[in-house]
Amino acid sequence: MAITKRTFDVVVVGAGGSGMRAALHLSQSGLKVAVLSKVFPTRSHTVAAQGGIAASLGNVTEDNWHWHMYDTVKGSDYLGDQDAIEYMCRAAPEVVYELEHFGMPFDRLDNGKIYQRPFGGHMQDYGKNPVQRACAAADRTGHALLHTLYQQNVKANTHFFIEWMALDLIRDQDGDVLGVVAMEIETSEVMVLHARATLFATGGAGRIFSASTNAYINTGDGLGMAARAGIPLEDMEFFQFHPTGVYGAGVLISEGVRGEGGYLVNSKGERFMPNYAPTAKDLASRDVVSRAIATEIREGRGCGPHGDHILLKVDHIGDEVIRQRLPGIRDISIKFAHVDPAKAPIPVVPTAHYMMGGIPTNYHGQVVVPQETAPEDVVQGFYAVGECACVSVHGANRLGCNSLLDLLVFGRAAARQIVDDLERNPHPKRLPADCADYSLARLARLENQKDGESVAEVGDAMRRSMQKHCGVFRFPDLLAEGVQQIGQIAERAGNTVICDKSRVFNTARVEALELDNLIEVAQATMTAAAAREESRGAHARDDFPERDDKNWLKHSLYFSEGQRLDYKPVRLKPLSVESFPLKPRVY
Ligand code: FUM
Repeated sequence: MAITKRTFDVVVVGAGGSGMRAALHLSQSGLKVAVLSKVFPTRSHTVAAQGGIAASLGNVTEDNWHWHMYDTVKGSDYLGDQDAIEYMCRAAPEVVYELEHFGMPFDRLDNGKIYQRPFGGHMQDYGKNPVQRACAAADRTGHALLHTLYQQNVKANTHFFIEWMALDLIRDQDGDVLGVVAMEIETSEVMVLHARATLFATGGAGRIFSASTNAYINTGDGLGMAARAGIPLEDMEFFQFHPTGVYGAGVLISEGVRGEGGYLVNSKGERFMPNYAPTAKDLASRDVVSRAIATEIREGRGCGPHGDHILLKVDHIGDEVIRQRLPGIRDISIKFAHVDPAKAPIPVVPTAHYMMGGIPTNYHGQVVVPQETAPEDVVQGFYAVGECACVSVHGANRLGCNSLLDLLVFGRAAARQIVDDLERNPHPKRLPADCADYSLARLARLENQKDGESVAEVGDAMRRSMQKHCGVFRFPDLLAEGVQQIGQIAERAGNTVICDKSRVFNTARVEALELDNLIEVAQATMTAAAAREESRGAHARDDFPERDDKNWLKHSLYFSEGQRLDYKPVRLKPLSVESFPLKPRVY
């Protein structure tokens, strides 16, 4: 079959915040840039980010990047790389002001400056009191950000391939990355996108769980492609559960609600967070709040007929503030929980939200893998940013609002690195003749498979297994059983059948391809979680309740081939300041 080949300087896979921030800089630098997206760019999952972007502007309360850096290191439970964290926190004010100049409609204070609200784990003076650091556009910050970046990209002539799905990474015999094989969702047309630089900005994989705040598109596509191409995945055991997903629906209720004064209560009407985090209370970091909620439920103080959720009380802040600062939350609460938050509390439960792990990169967005001869090495031509990447600035637990910041800082950093790299290497390498064969074989398998289980059935088994075996608290027997189960489900995923090809829309094929990616992520997550015998950040082991810096202050690396794990050291040395010494983490 003759396959169309297109050549670009850079192919960006994913049109969320990080992909579009990178694409903007690349296009403005005069490069020919293609951005591939499964959905229309402004429908990428960044659109769902609500509360804000962390930056120490100090518009409401005194602040500086050292405090932000300290909070992020502490929030990461000391697993974050301190060079990357310093880089991010120092760059934060600048990327926010850039965004303001791109036209981002931030909320304003009376003095005209950007409005900032408190957020979990963000404190003044090295952990003393909550600080107002989250730069917000009401509770639709991600929505405003995506529209701003999309408009700027249109102006900069970025070329969008909309409703195209990347299938596989192209690597040559030297291991260098030369682009991707992609498929148009509507027509199934396959195309090779040849590029001097390939940037993955494919977002997260929250859909490995059955209760998730994530969009249906968040299927770990970049991680699946990377893993199949022999790139290890870093720190996959660390998956964040957001404390407040709408009970029964999973939709996100922003931490911004607690930032505006909301608080959590149990079935006795008690505000319980001061018992778990005496200083930060409801604004402790997410892992701490999620565990507190799970404990309240486990100990019989959950709400509702099944005692399986708790309540988020907001009515005391008044209808006017809710409508002004939290209009999206009001809508979500009315539509999905059937309560007006100005009149009654919102039923909430911890819900899978964010993947701290991902494709290993340095803070220039270059993908790095350990080599036999050196501790780590750059994969030529390959870059990753945003949730699919592990820089690692979030370590074992991300602070709220640091994800939008991460998108902007590392989207821009990777683009700058690519511009430099392409200046040094102006000539594209030749594509291997068989570069599309692997993807074509995957598609042919789906076409030719006559019987087998449906994709939906196998996907459902995976999601239920992840939910049961790899949740907020992790138990040794459940983890061991989970590893077995996910292994068996992975085999089943290789034998799925697309039912009734004549009548289903092509999304059935896409769902089958997405399942291949989800399974890679699920196996990596379960395997790495079963192996890590300590509790750190979002990884809370019932049998190893303490953090163990002596044995486990290290990043995991999961290799898909052989489901093998390796480890590498945490980068404890920042760029210019003293490293933050390891301490017990209390809020
Ligand atoms: O709670 C929120 O608004 C979510 C923000 C985030 O995940 O950073």
